[in-house]
Amino acid sequence: MCGIVGYIGDNKALNFLLQGLSKLEYRGYDSAGIAVNCGENIFVEKAVGRLDALKEKLHNQKIDGTIGIGHTRWATHGRPSDRNAHPHTDCQENFVVVHNGIIENYMALKENLISRGHKFISETDTEVVPHLLEEFYNGNFLESVQKVLKKIEGSYSLVFMSKAHPDTLICAKQDNPLVVGLGNGENFIASDIPAIISKTRNAYILNDGEIAVVKKDSVKIFNRNGEVVEKKIFHVNWNAEAAEKGGYEHFMLKEINEQPKAVRDTISKRISKDGASIELELGWDKNFLDSINKIYIIACGTAYHAGLVAKFYIEKLARKLVEVDVASEYRYRNPIVDDKTLVIVISQSGETSDTLAALKESRRLGAKTLAITNVVGSSIAREAEQVIYTVAGPEIAVASTKAYTTQLILVFMLALYMAQIGKTISTERARELIDLLKKIPAQISETLSDVDPIKTFARQYGFNEDVFYIGRSLDYCVALEGALKLKEISYIHAEAYASGELKHGTLALIVEGVPVIALATQKSVYEKTISNIKEVKARDAVVIGIGAAGDTELEKYLDHVIFVPNTDELLIPLLTVVPLQLLAYYAAITRGCDVDKPRNLAKSVTVE
Ligand code: AGP
Repeated sequence: MCGIVGYIGDNKALNFLLQGLSKLEYRGYDSAGIAVNCGENIFVEKAVGRLDALKEKLHNQKIDGTIGIGHTRWATHGRPSDRNAHPHTDCQENFVVVHNGIIENYMALKENLISRGHKFISETDTEVVPHLLEEFYNGNFLESVQKVLKKIEGSYSLVFMSKAHPDTLICAKQDNPLVVGLGNGENFIASDIPAIISKTRNAYILNDGEIAVVKKDSVKIFNRNGEVVEKKIFHVNWNAEAAEKGGYEHFMLKEINEQPKAVRDTISKRISKDGASIELELGWDKNFLDSINKIYIIACGTAYHAGLVAKFYIEKLARKLVEVDVASEYRYRNPIVDDKTLVIVISQSGETSDTLAALKESRRLGAKTLAITNVVGSSIAREAEQVIYTVAGPEIAVASTKAYTTQLILVFMLALYMAQIGKTISTERARELIDLLKKIPAQISETLSDVDPIKTFARQYGFNEDVFYIGRSLDYCVALEGALKLKEISYIHAEAYASGELKHGTLALIVEGVPVIALATQKSVYEKTISNIKEVKARDAVVIGIGAAGDTELEKYLDHVIFVPNTDELLIPLLTVVPLQLLAYYAAITRGCDVDKPRNLAKSVTVE
């Protein structure tokens, strides 16, 4: 997820570009850049790091042009660097482009362009766009851009600037947001409302397939067939802070609702064209897998909970022994690690000190290492021998939500990838799981579509001081994550227990009225789970169940049930965690807690 801006009018473009980018840093902040058309040439400046690094480079520079574009990056292809920062230009620097999204067919396009003599500077997917425009340019800016858009596949919001057309910006939207702010003798382009709200509250919100030709005193919009679109002006009545959250009250709720897209983007390009296999950027083969006799998965907090699910997936599908540990314990336990050990670390931020230290210790002991992280170029990404990325976009709320579900989807694909190499599952089973995997984003959307029952429970039980989460197998792994969510943002004392463990002590705490969240989706242990639910019901607990749609048994034993769409029991954690995230969110609201910045906690724990 990146932030893009554009300006065309009679004022210095640079002023709006920098101000607009500062309002979009929540969309990505590992590098930034601007381009301003100064007549004879287009001035381009970029800097790795936060926006201040770019401002430092621009300090005292005289840049008076009145048309320009800008970008703040969240790297997905190519680590954060000056070279990979946007904007990107063609060979002659006649065209400049900024982009948010993923161009899925960029490798084929890049190879073809290189064969035609184009010189590339960056590792990004975006850089193919200005070179394509250079290829297709026929004097008509709009027509040439339309030809380029027909060649690229994937998700994008793009802004094009051309030296030969100093009175025009063109922008195009597909899957990623883009708005055109309507000023008086000037117009603004941005990924999102926050960037324009101080200049204008009137905007066109572009739809997929639309292209806008923006001049300082006119905006013309066309659909993908080149027909003129008459759009209604959207009047923004949000305040600036609400706008950064896309109209949601908190970043956490925004990020919970971003999960379908985050999961889709993480799956994207990692399933073979025939849909029969997973393709990860690891290059593993049977020899590599045979060289490993144990796998450690090391992480903290929510990432640790994703590791517990990963253990289940890898042992079940790839039949490899897996041990999971919290980083702060592992690194002081003198772990039994050698060159036959694969250590996988999971970290959203890629900066968690305990996890980074555990990774370094593992490398010192000779282990093979793989990082799963959400931040390209992060310390953990750079320390590990190999890295695969979740594509969740920046996660701002302290409570991790979309990072967790994208971690689950990525470790599921990793387990399937290993199973294919080791031939530990049939091709039919692999294809069946891949077909179900592709349905997950839509099923998460479906789960998000009805939050009212969860809001009701949160209000009813939000003032309890103790809540228990119980489950078996993968339900237990998700119960741990649900309890952490509730603890960390509502400050309710919540604990998760393997259902079968209750009778060994904890049942003593289950008394009348205590809320128990019971996850019951794992068919392989369903009967046992029902027995455990009966145990807590017999002590007059209030039991809220999380079940799979179509389960008509569950309601007989519970006070309330929340159903999620049915799917393979391996994949259902992607869905059952969503009501638990929402339950925590609404309980925190009920208790008046600071949802995005809970007390005592930080988004990235860079201390031991
Ligand atoms: C989870 O909601 C918390 N924010 C916290 O437990 C977090 O998961 C943990 O600190 C690990 O962070 P990381 O994934 O960035 O390494």
